[in-house]
Amino acid sequence: MASRWANDEADKAEELRRKKEKEEKKRLKLQKQQEADQAARALQAAQESDSRPSKRRRLSTDNTDNEVQPTQEMNQPERKLLRFDSGGWSPCRHTSNYEILNPIEEGTYGFVSRARDITSSSIVALKRVKMDYPQDGFPITALREISILQRARHANIVDLKEILSGGGGGGGGSDDPADSCVLVMEFLEHDLKTLQEDMAEPFMASEVKTLLKQLVGAVAFLHDNAILHRDLKTSNILLDNRGRLKLADFGMARYIPPGAAKLTQLVVTLWYRAPELLLGADTYGREVDMWSIGCVMGELLSKAPLLPGKNEVDQLSLIFSLCGLPSSESWPGFYRLPNAKSLKLPRSSQSSSSPGFNRAQFPFLTSTGISLLSSLLALNPDHRPTAQDVLLHPYFKEAPKPKPQEMFPTFPSKAGQEKRRRRRSSPAAPKRGEDAVGRLGNVDFSGIFARREEEEKGAGFMLKMG
Ligand SMILES: Nc1ncnc2c1ncn2[C@@H]1O[C@H](COP(=O)(O)OP(=O)(O)OP(=O)(O)O)[C@@H](O)[C@H]1O
Ligand SMILES: [Mg+2]
Repeated sequence: MASRWANDEADKAEELRRKKEKEEKKRLKLQKQQEADQAARALQAAQESDSRPSKRRRLSTDNTDNEVQPTQEMNQPERKLLRFDSGGWSPCRHTSNYEILNPIEEGTYGFVSRARDITSSSIVALKRVKMDYPQDGFPITALREISILQRARHANIVDLKEILSGGGGGGGGSDDPADSCVLVMEFLEHDLKTLQEDMAEPFMASEVKTLLKQLVGAVAFLHDNAILHRDLKTSNILLDNRGRLKLADFGMARYIPPGAAKLTQLVVTLWYRAPELLLGADTYGREVDMWSIGCVMGELLSKAPLLPGKNEVDQLSLIFSLCGLPSSESWPGFYRLPNAKSLKLPRSSQSSSSPGFNRAQFPFLTSTGISLLSSLLALNPDHRPTAQDVLLHPYFKEAPKPKPQEMFPTFPSKAGQEKRRRRRSSPAAPKRGEDAVGRLGNVDFSGIFARREEEEKGAGFMLKMG
Protein backbone atom coordinates (compact mmCIF):
# COMPACT_ATOMS: atom_id res chain seq x y z
CA MET A 1 0.00 0.00 0.00
CA ALA A 2 1.37 3.26 -0.90
CA SER A 3 2.04 5.63 1.92
CA ARG A 4 0.01 8.71 2.49
CA TRP A 5 3.10 10.81 1.53
CA ALA A 6 3.59 8.83 -1.72
CA ASN A 7 -0.10 9.36 -2.57
CA ASP A 8 0.23 13.07 -1.99
CA GLU A 9 3.20 13.26 -4.36
CA ALA A 10 1.38 11.39 -7.11
CA ASP A 11 -1.77 13.50 -6.60
CA LYS A 12 0.24 16.70 -6.90
CA ALA A 13 1.91 15.55 -10.13
CA GLU A 14 -1.45 14.52 -11.54
CA GLU A 15 -2.98 17.87 -10.55
CA LEU A 16 -0.09 19.74 -12.24
CA ARG A 17 -0.48 17.76 -15.45
CA ARG A 18 -4.22 18.48 -15.57
CA LYS A 19 -3.62 22.15 -14.96
CA LYS A 20 -1.09 22.30 -17.80
CA GLU A 21 -3.45 20.42 -20.10
CA LYS A 22 -6.26 22.86 -19.28
CA GLU A 23 -4.04 25.88 -19.90
CA GLU A 24 -2.89 24.45 -23.25
CA LYS A 25 -6.53 23.86 -24.28
CA LYS A 26 -7.41 27.42 -23.29
CA ARG A 27 -4.46 28.80 -25.27
CA LEU A 28 -5.40 26.78 -28.35
CA LYS A 29 -9.03 27.96 -28.10
CA LEU A 30 -7.93 31.59 -27.86
CA GLN A 31 -5.56 31.19 -30.79
CA LYS A 32 -8.36 29.65 -32.88
CA GLN A 33 -10.69 32.47 -31.93
CA GLN A 34 -8.13 35.08 -32.93
CA GLU A 35 -7.52 33.39 -36.28
CA ALA A 36 -11.27 33.24 -36.92
CA ASP A 37 -11.69 36.94 -36.06
CA GLN A 38 -8.83 37.89 -38.36
CA ALA A 39 -10.32 35.88 -41.22
CA ALA A 40 -13.73 37.48 -40.68
CA ARG A 41 -12.22 40.98 -40.76
CA ALA A 42 -10.31 40.25 -43.95
CA LEU A 43 -13.46 38.89 -45.57
CA GLN A 44 -15.49 41.94 -44.55
CA ALA A 45 -12.85 44.31 -45.90
CA ALA A 46 -12.76 42.45 -49.20
CA GLN A 47 -16.56 42.58 -49.42
CA GLU A 48 -16.60 46.31 -48.68
CA SER A 49 -14.08 47.18 -51.35
CA ASP A 50 -16.04 45.04 -53.80
CA SER A 51 -19.33 46.66 -52.92
CA ARG A 52 -18.22 50.36 -53.31
CA PRO A 53 -18.40 50.59 -57.08
CA SER A 54 -21.68 48.70 -57.14
CA LYS A 55 -23.12 51.22 -54.63
CA ARG A 56 -22.21 54.02 -57.02
CA ARG A 57 -23.57 52.06 -59.95
CA ARG A 58 -26.89 51.68 -58.23
CA LEU A 59 -27.43 55.46 -58.51
CA SER A 60 -28.09 55.06 -62.19
CA THR A 61 -30.42 52.64 -63.88
CA ASP A 62 -28.66 53.13 -67.17
CA ASN A 63 -26.07 50.40 -67.64
CA THR A 64 -24.16 52.23 -70.38
CA ASP A 65 -23.46 55.06 -67.92
CA ASN A 66 -21.71 52.58 -65.65
CA GLU A 67 -19.34 51.60 -68.35
CA VAL A 68 -18.70 55.17 -69.48
CA GLN A 69 -18.11 56.54 -65.98
CA PRO A 70 -14.45 55.58 -65.50
CA THR A 71 -13.44 56.99 -68.90
CA GLN A 72 -15.25 60.26 -68.15
CA GLU A 73 -13.49 60.53 -64.82
CA MET A 74 -10.15 59.89 -66.45
CA ASN A 75 -10.78 62.54 -69.07
CA GLN A 76 -11.67 65.20 -66.55
CA PRO A 77 -8.92 67.60 -65.44
CA GLU A 78 -7.38 66.70 -62.13
CA ARG A 79 -9.38 68.24 -59.30
CA LYS A 80 -7.56 70.07 -56.60
CA LEU A 81 -8.88 69.86 -53.09
CA LEU A 82 -8.26 72.34 -50.34
CA ARG A 83 -6.46 70.69 -47.43
CA PHE A 84 -7.63 72.05 -44.13
CA ASP A 85 -5.87 71.89 -40.82
CA SER A 86 -8.38 70.16 -38.63
CA GLY A 87 -7.38 72.56 -35.82
CA GLY A 88 -9.36 72.54 -32.66
CA TRP A 89 -11.80 74.61 -30.73
CA SER A 90 -10.38 77.16 -28.39
CA PRO A 91 -11.90 80.26 -26.84
CA CYS A 92 -11.58 83.54 -28.80
CA ARG A 93 -9.32 86.16 -27.31
CA HIS A 94 -10.93 89.38 -26.12
CA THR A 95 -10.80 92.65 -28.09
CA SER A 96 -8.98 94.25 -25.13
CA ASN A 97 -5.81 92.52 -26.40
CA TYR A 98 -5.70 95.22 -29.08
CA GLU A 99 -5.43 98.97 -28.91
CA ILE A 100 -7.31 100.88 -31.65
CA LEU A 101 -5.02 103.37 -33.42
CA ASN A 102 -7.43 104.91 -35.94
CA PRO A 103 -10.61 104.10 -37.83
CA ILE A 104 -10.09 103.21 -41.52
CA GLU A 105 -13.50 102.81 -43.06
CA GLU A 106 -17.08 101.96 -42.32
CA GLY A 107 -18.12 99.49 -44.99
CA THR A 108 -21.51 97.93 -45.64
CA TYR A 109 -20.79 94.99 -43.36
CA GLY A 110 -18.18 96.15 -40.91
CA PHE A 111 -16.19 98.89 -39.21
CA VAL A 112 -12.53 98.59 -40.10
CA SER A 113 -9.79 100.12 -37.96
CA ARG A 114 -6.03 99.97 -37.58
CA ALA A 115 -4.91 98.55 -34.26
CA ARG A 116 -1.87 97.35 -32.30
CA ASP A 117 -1.56 93.94 -30.69
CA ILE A 118 -0.70 94.92 -27.10
CA THR A 119 1.48 91.85 -26.53
CA SER A 120 3.45 91.71 -29.77
CA SER A 121 3.13 95.39 -30.85
CA SER A 122 2.33 94.22 -34.38
CA ILE A 123 -0.03 96.39 -36.42
CA VAL A 124 -3.22 94.78 -37.71
CA ALA A 125 -6.57 95.68 -39.24
CA LEU A 126 -9.68 94.91 -37.17
CA LYS A 127 -13.03 94.45 -38.88
CA ARG A 128 -15.91 94.56 -36.42
CA VAL A 129 -18.91 92.74 -37.85
CA LYS A 130 -22.01 94.93 -38.08
CA MET A 131 -24.98 93.35 -36.34
CA ASP A 132 -27.66 95.29 -38.20
CA TYR A 133 -30.38 92.68 -37.65
CA PRO A 134 -29.54 90.98 -34.33
CA GLN A 135 -32.94 89.26 -34.34
CA ASP A 136 -31.76 87.27 -37.40
CA GLY A 137 -28.73 85.94 -35.53
CA PHE A 138 -25.11 86.12 -36.57
CA PRO A 139 -24.83 87.57 -40.14
CA ILE A 140 -24.29 84.94 -42.82
CA THR A 141 -21.97 87.34 -44.68
CA ALA A 142 -19.59 87.34 -41.71
CA LEU A 143 -19.85 83.55 -41.33
CA ARG A 144 -18.94 83.11 -44.99
CA GLU A 145 -16.14 85.67 -44.79
CA ILE A 146 -14.62 83.93 -41.76
CA SER A 147 -14.94 80.38 -43.06
CA ILE A 148 -13.66 81.21 -46.55
CA LEU A 149 -10.79 83.40 -45.31
CA GLN A 150 -9.72 80.66 -42.89
CA ARG A 151 -9.40 78.26 -45.79
CA ALA A 152 -8.25 80.45 -48.66
CA ARG A 153 -4.61 80.91 -47.70
CA HIS A 154 -2.77 82.52 -50.61
CA ALA A 155 0.00 85.10 -51.05
CA ASN A 156 -2.51 87.48 -52.67
CA ILE A 157 -5.40 86.99 -50.26
CA VAL A 158 -5.52 88.93 -47.01
CA ASP A 159 -4.44 86.86 -44.03
CA LEU A 160 -7.05 86.33 -41.31
CA LYS A 161 -5.10 86.03 -38.07
CA GLU A 162 -7.77 85.40 -35.45
CA ILE A 163 -11.33 86.17 -34.37
CA LEU A 164 -11.98 88.19 -31.23
CA SER A 165 -15.04 88.42 -29.07
CA GLY A 166 -15.91 91.87 -27.79
CA GLY A 167 -17.64 93.58 -24.94
CA GLY A 168 -16.66 96.13 -22.35
CA GLY A 169 -15.06 98.78 -24.52
CA GLY A 170 -12.22 96.62 -25.80
CA GLY A 171 -10.33 96.99 -29.06
CA GLY A 172 -13.50 96.67 -31.12
CA GLY A 173 -14.17 100.38 -30.49
CA SER A 174 -15.79 102.53 -27.82
CA ASP A 175 -19.27 101.23 -28.67
CA ASP A 176 -17.99 97.66 -28.63
CA PRO A 177 -21.13 95.64 -27.73
CA ALA A 178 -20.97 92.50 -25.61
CA ASP A 179 -21.77 90.16 -28.50
CA SER A 180 -19.46 91.79 -31.05
CA CYS A 181 -17.24 89.73 -33.27
CA VAL A 182 -14.02 91.12 -34.69
CA LEU A 183 -11.85 89.75 -37.48
CA VAL A 184 -8.12 90.39 -37.03
CA MET A 185 -6.35 90.69 -40.38
CA GLU A 186 -2.91 91.70 -41.52
CA PHE A 187 -2.85 95.46 -42.16
CA LEU A 188 -2.12 96.79 -45.65
CA GLU A 189 -1.45 100.46 -46.25
CA HIS A 190 -3.84 101.03 -49.17
CA ASP A 191 -6.89 99.94 -51.04
CA LEU A 192 -6.69 100.58 -54.77
CA LYS A 193 -9.73 102.84 -54.82
CA THR A 194 -8.56 105.26 -52.12
CA LEU A 195 -5.04 105.19 -53.52
CA GLN A 196 -6.10 106.02 -57.07
CA GLU A 197 -8.30 108.87 -55.88
CA ASP A 198 -5.14 110.57 -54.63
CA MET A 199 -2.78 109.80 -57.48
CA ALA A 200 -2.10 112.58 -59.97
CA GLU A 201 -1.53 110.13 -62.84
CA PRO A 202 -2.86 106.66 -63.53
CA PHE A 203 -0.63 103.64 -62.83
CA MET A 204 1.95 102.99 -65.55
CA ALA A 205 1.27 100.14 -67.98
CA SER A 206 3.95 97.98 -66.29
CA GLU A 207 2.40 98.66 -62.86
CA VAL A 208 -1.10 97.79 -64.07
CA LYS A 209 0.30 94.44 -65.22
CA THR A 210 1.93 93.74 -61.84
CA LEU A 211 -1.32 94.53 -60.04
CA LEU A 212 -3.51 92.63 -62.45
CA LYS A 213 -1.32 89.52 -62.38
CA GLN A 214 -1.51 89.33 -58.60
CA LEU A 215 -5.27 89.93 -58.60
CA VAL A 216 -5.90 87.28 -61.25
CA GLY A 217 -3.56 84.89 -59.36
CA ALA A 218 -5.76 85.24 -56.26
CA VAL A 219 -8.96 84.77 -58.27
CA ALA A 220 -7.53 81.73 -60.10
CA PHE A 221 -6.78 80.19 -56.69
CA LEU A 222 -10.35 80.88 -55.52
CA HIS A 223 -11.92 79.54 -58.71
CA ASP A 224 -9.73 76.42 -58.67
CA ASN A 225 -11.10 75.80 -55.21
CA ALA A 226 -14.73 76.39 -56.26
CA ILE A 227 -15.05 79.78 -54.54
CA LEU A 228 -16.70 82.83 -56.13
CA HIS A 229 -15.72 86.23 -54.69
CA ARG A 230 -18.74 88.09 -56.09
CA ASP A 231 -17.60 91.56 -55.00
CA LEU A 232 -14.39 92.29 -56.87
CA LYS A 233 -13.82 96.05 -56.97
CA THR A 234 -10.92 98.41 -56.35
CA SER A 235 -11.96 99.17 -52.74
CA ASN A 236 -11.72 95.47 -51.91
CA ILE A 237 -8.21 95.15 -53.35
CA LEU A 238 -5.47 96.06 -50.89
CA LEU A 239 -1.89 97.04 -51.62
CA ASP A 240 1.07 97.30 -49.27
CA ASN A 241 4.08 99.53 -49.62
CA ARG A 242 6.12 96.72 -51.16
CA GLY A 243 3.91 96.38 -54.24
CA ARG A 244 2.11 93.35 -52.82
CA LEU A 245 -1.59 93.12 -53.66
CA LYS A 246 -4.07 91.21 -51.50
CA LEU A 247 -7.70 90.52 -52.13
CA ALA A 248 -10.04 91.31 -49.22
CA ASP A 249 -13.73 91.50 -48.27
CA PHE A 250 -15.13 88.01 -48.64
CA GLY A 251 -18.58 88.98 -47.34
CA MET A 252 -20.21 88.11 -50.68
CA ALA A 253 -18.05 85.06 -51.39
CA ARG A 254 -19.47 81.55 -51.53
CA TYR A 255 -18.67 78.03 -52.63
CA ILE A 256 -19.95 77.15 -56.08
CA PRO A 257 -22.81 74.69 -55.64
CA PRO A 258 -22.83 71.56 -57.79
CA GLY A 259 -25.04 71.57 -60.89
CA ALA A 260 -26.93 74.63 -62.01
CA ALA A 261 -28.27 75.59 -58.58
CA LYS A 262 -29.92 79.00 -58.28
CA LEU A 263 -27.87 81.71 -56.61
CA THR A 264 -28.61 85.18 -55.22
CA GLN A 265 -29.01 87.65 -58.08
CA LEU A 266 -28.18 90.75 -56.10
CA VAL A 267 -24.43 90.33 -55.82
CA VAL A 268 -21.45 92.43 -56.92
CA THR A 269 -21.40 96.23 -56.50
CA LEU A 270 -23.32 97.87 -59.39
CA TRP A 271 -20.35 99.29 -61.34
CA TYR A 272 -18.65 95.89 -61.44
CA ARG A 273 -21.79 93.78 -62.05
CA ALA A 274 -21.86 91.54 -65.12
CA PRO A 275 -24.64 92.02 -67.71
CA GLU A 276 -26.12 88.56 -67.09
CA LEU A 277 -26.72 89.52 -63.43
CA LEU A 278 -28.30 92.84 -64.44
CA LEU A 279 -30.52 90.92 -66.83
CA GLY A 280 -31.75 88.68 -64.03
CA ALA A 281 -29.67 85.48 -64.36
CA ASP A 282 -29.91 83.34 -61.24
CA THR A 283 -27.57 80.63 -62.43
CA TYR A 284 -24.10 81.98 -63.00
CA GLY A 285 -20.50 81.12 -62.29
CA ARG A 286 -16.89 82.23 -62.27
CA GLU A 287 -17.58 84.48 -65.30
CA VAL A 288 -19.17 87.13 -63.05
CA ASP A 289 -15.80 87.56 -61.30
CA MET A 290 -14.01 87.72 -64.68
CA TRP A 291 -16.30 90.58 -65.75
CA SER A 292 -15.44 92.48 -62.56
CA ILE A 293 -11.72 91.91 -63.27
CA GLY A 294 -12.31 93.56 -66.66
CA CYS A 295 -13.87 96.57 -64.90
CA VAL A 296 -10.92 96.74 -62.48
CA MET A 297 -8.43 96.53 -65.37
CA GLY A 298 -10.17 99.43 -67.15
CA GLU A 299 -10.20 101.43 -63.91
CA LEU A 300 -6.49 100.88 -63.28
CA LEU A 301 -5.65 101.96 -66.83
CA SER A 302 -7.66 105.16 -66.75
CA LYS A 303 -7.74 105.98 -63.00
CA ALA A 304 -11.52 106.32 -63.11
CA PRO A 305 -14.34 103.81 -62.69
CA LEU A 306 -14.98 102.23 -66.07
CA LEU A 307 -18.76 101.82 -65.92
CA PRO A 308 -20.15 104.15 -63.22
CA GLY A 309 -23.87 103.56 -63.73
CA LYS A 310 -26.43 105.50 -61.68
CA ASN A 311 -28.86 102.59 -61.56
CA GLU A 312 -29.35 99.19 -63.20
CA VAL A 313 -30.74 100.61 -66.47
CA ASP A 314 -27.99 103.21 -66.72
CA GLN A 315 -25.44 100.49 -65.94
CA LEU A 316 -26.69 98.36 -68.86
CA SER A 317 -26.67 101.39 -71.11
CA LEU A 318 -23.02 102.14 -70.24
CA ILE A 319 -22.12 98.49 -70.78
CA PHE A 320 -23.75 98.35 -74.22
CA SER A 321 -22.15 101.60 -75.35
CA LEU A 322 -18.67 100.32 -74.37
CA CYS A 323 -18.97 96.66 -75.32
CA GLY A 324 -21.47 96.72 -78.18
CA LEU A 325 -24.88 95.12 -78.29
CA PRO A 326 -25.81 91.52 -77.76
CA SER A 327 -27.22 89.57 -80.69
CA SER A 328 -28.64 86.08 -80.97
CA GLU A 329 -25.39 85.04 -82.70
CA SER A 330 -22.94 86.55 -80.23
CA TRP A 331 -25.00 85.61 -77.16
CA PRO A 332 -27.61 82.93 -77.90
CA GLY A 333 -28.78 82.81 -74.26
CA PHE A 334 -29.43 86.56 -74.10
CA TYR A 335 -33.14 86.54 -74.99
CA ARG A 336 -33.82 83.80 -72.47
CA LEU A 337 -32.75 86.04 -69.57
CA PRO A 338 -35.71 87.38 -67.55
CA ASN A 339 -35.06 91.10 -68.19
CA ALA A 340 -33.92 90.84 -71.83
CA LYS A 341 -37.37 90.69 -73.38
CA SER A 342 -38.30 94.18 -72.25
CA LEU A 343 -35.24 95.86 -73.82
CA LYS A 344 -35.59 97.75 -77.08
CA LEU A 345 -32.26 97.51 -78.88
CA PRO A 346 -31.19 99.35 -82.07
CA ARG A 347 -31.83 97.40 -85.25
CA SER A 348 -28.10 97.37 -85.96
CA SER A 349 -27.63 94.93 -83.06
CA GLN A 350 -28.74 92.08 -85.32
CA SER A 351 -26.52 93.10 -88.22
CA SER A 352 -22.81 92.56 -88.69
CA SER A 353 -22.31 96.36 -88.76
CA SER A 354 -23.20 96.55 -85.06
CA PRO A 355 -20.38 98.39 -83.24
CA GLY A 356 -18.27 96.09 -81.09
CA PHE A 357 -15.96 96.97 -78.20
CA ASN A 358 -15.20 100.69 -78.23
CA ARG A 359 -11.40 100.50 -78.25
CA ALA A 360 -11.13 104.27 -78.75
CA GLN A 361 -11.77 104.62 -75.01
CA PHE A 362 -8.27 103.19 -74.42
CA PRO A 363 -6.05 105.08 -76.87
CA PHE A 364 -2.85 104.06 -75.06
CA LEU A 365 -3.58 100.36 -74.74
CA THR A 366 -1.86 97.99 -77.19
CA SER A 367 -3.99 95.72 -79.36
CA THR A 368 -2.92 92.76 -77.14
CA GLY A 369 -4.17 94.71 -74.13
CA ILE A 370 -7.43 95.53 -75.93
CA SER A 371 -7.87 91.86 -76.82
CA LEU A 372 -7.58 90.91 -73.12
CA LEU A 373 -9.81 93.73 -71.87
CA SER A 374 -12.51 93.17 -74.49
CA SER A 375 -12.55 89.43 -73.82
CA LEU A 376 -12.98 90.01 -70.06
CA LEU A 377 -15.82 92.39 -70.92
CA ALA A 378 -17.46 90.01 -73.39
CA LEU A 379 -21.24 90.31 -73.01
CA ASN A 380 -21.66 86.57 -73.42
CA PRO A 381 -20.24 85.02 -70.22
CA ASP A 382 -19.14 81.94 -72.19
CA HIS A 383 -16.76 84.11 -74.20
CA ARG A 384 -14.87 85.42 -71.17
CA PRO A 385 -11.50 83.83 -70.39
CA THR A 386 -10.90 81.88 -67.19
CA ALA A 387 -8.50 83.28 -64.61
CA GLN A 388 -5.92 80.65 -65.63
CA ASP A 389 -6.31 81.77 -69.30
CA VAL A 390 -5.67 85.37 -68.29
CA LEU A 391 -2.46 84.46 -66.45
CA LEU A 392 -1.12 83.01 -69.71
CA HIS A 393 -2.24 85.95 -71.88
CA PRO A 394 0.45 87.51 -74.15
CA TYR A 395 -0.42 90.92 -72.61
CA PHE A 396 1.81 90.02 -69.65
CA LYS A 397 4.68 88.96 -71.93
CA GLU A 398 4.83 91.93 -74.29
CA ALA A 399 6.67 95.15 -73.44
CA PRO A 400 6.43 96.85 -71.08
CA LYS A 401 6.82 93.79 -68.84
CA PRO A 402 5.17 93.76 -65.40
CA LYS A 403 7.18 95.94 -63.03
CA PRO A 404 9.04 93.90 -60.39
CA GLN A 405 7.21 94.24 -57.05
CA GLU A 406 10.31 95.55 -55.28
CA MET A 407 10.48 98.43 -57.81
CA PHE A 408 6.88 99.44 -57.13
CA PRO A 409 6.50 103.04 -55.95
CA THR A 410 5.39 103.70 -52.38
CA PHE A 411 2.63 106.11 -51.46
CA PRO A 412 1.57 107.84 -48.23
CA SER A 413 -1.04 105.69 -46.51
CA LYS A 414 -4.41 107.13 -45.57
CA ALA A 415 -5.33 104.00 -43.63
CA GLY A 416 -2.08 104.44 -41.69
CA GLN A 417 -3.00 108.09 -41.09
CA GLU A 418 -0.13 109.41 -43.16
CA LYS A 419 -2.85 111.25 -45.07
CA ARG A 420 -6.46 112.24 -44.36
CA ARG A 421 -9.22 110.13 -45.83
CA ARG A 422 -11.93 111.75 -47.87
CA ARG A 423 -15.47 110.45 -48.18
CA ARG A 424 -16.00 108.43 -51.28
CA SER A 425 -18.83 108.66 -53.75
CA SER A 426 -19.14 105.13 -55.04
CA PRO A 427 -21.95 102.63 -54.66
CA ALA A 428 -21.98 100.26 -51.71
CA ALA A 429 -21.95 96.49 -51.98
CA PRO A 430 -25.45 95.00 -52.29
CA LYS A 431 -27.14 94.50 -48.93
CA ARG A 432 -28.23 91.04 -47.97
CA GLY A 433 -31.97 90.64 -47.87
CA GLU A 434 -32.55 93.44 -50.38
CA ASP A 435 -34.41 92.38 -53.50
CA ALA A 436 -32.74 92.32 -56.87
CA VAL A 437 -34.37 94.66 -59.38
CA GLY A 438 -37.47 92.84 -60.52
CA ARG A 439 -38.12 93.46 -64.16
CA LEU A 440 -36.22 96.36 -65.67
CA GLY A 441 -39.42 97.52 -67.36
CA ASN A 442 -39.54 98.56 -70.99
CA VAL A 443 -36.20 100.19 -71.67
CA ASP A 444 -35.35 101.83 -74.96
CA PHE A 445 -31.68 101.52 -75.92
CA SER A 446 -32.24 102.29 -79.60
CA GLY A 447 -30.34 105.61 -79.57
CA ILE A 448 -27.45 104.20 -77.61
CA PHE A 449 -24.69 104.69 -80.20
CA ALA A 450 -25.78 108.14 -81.44
CA ARG A 451 -23.15 109.85 -79.30
CA ARG A 452 -20.40 107.40 -80.17
CA GLU A 453 -21.07 107.87 -83.90
CA GLU A 454 -20.97 111.66 -83.53
CA GLU A 455 -17.72 111.59 -81.58
CA GLU A 456 -16.15 109.11 -83.97
CA LYS A 457 -17.15 111.27 -86.94
CA GLY A 458 -15.71 114.40 -85.29
CA ALA A 459 -12.28 113.45 -84.00
CA GLY A 460 -11.68 110.14 -85.67
CA PHE A 461 -11.17 108.68 -82.20
CA MET A 462 -12.65 109.30 -78.79
CA LEU A 463 -10.89 109.76 -75.49
CA LYS A 464 -13.76 109.36 -73.15
CA MET A 465 -17.42 108.50 -73.19
CA GLY A 466 -20.11 109.23 -70.63
N1 LIG B 1 -6.64 94.30 -43.89
C1 LIG B 1 -6.85 95.59 -44.16
N2 LIG B 1 -5.86 96.49 -44.10
C2 LIG B 1 -6.10 97.79 -44.36
N3 LIG B 1 -7.28 98.29 -44.72
C3 LIG B 1 -8.33 97.43 -44.81
C4 LIG B 1 -8.17 96.04 -44.54
N4 LIG B 1 -9.36 95.44 -44.72
C5 LIG B 1 -10.21 96.40 -45.10
N5 LIG B 1 -9.61 97.60 -45.14
C6 LIG B 1 -10.22 98.90 -45.53
O1 LIG B 1 -11.55 98.93 -45.06
C7 LIG B 1 -12.46 99.06 -46.16
C8 LIG B 1 -13.70 98.26 -45.89
O2 LIG B 1 -13.35 96.90 -45.66
P1 LIG B 1 -14.25 95.73 -46.24
O3 LIG B 1 -14.40 95.92 -47.69
O4 LIG B 1 -13.69 94.43 -45.77
O5 LIG B 1 -15.61 96.03 -45.47
P2 LIG B 1 -17.10 95.89 -45.96
O6 LIG B 1 -17.97 96.40 -44.88
O7 LIG B 1 -17.34 94.50 -46.35
O8 LIG B 1 -17.09 96.86 -47.20
P3 LIG B 1 -18.09 96.97 -48.45
O9 LIG B 1 -18.74 98.28 -48.29
O10 LIG B 1 -17.15 96.91 -49.62
O11 LIG B 1 -18.99 95.81 -48.41
C9 LIG B 1 -11.66 98.61 -47.39
O12 LIG B 1 -12.15 99.25 -48.56
C10 LIG B 1 -10.26 99.06 -47.04
O13 LIG B 1 -10.11 100.44 -47.31
MG1 LIG C 1 -15.47 96.20 -49.21
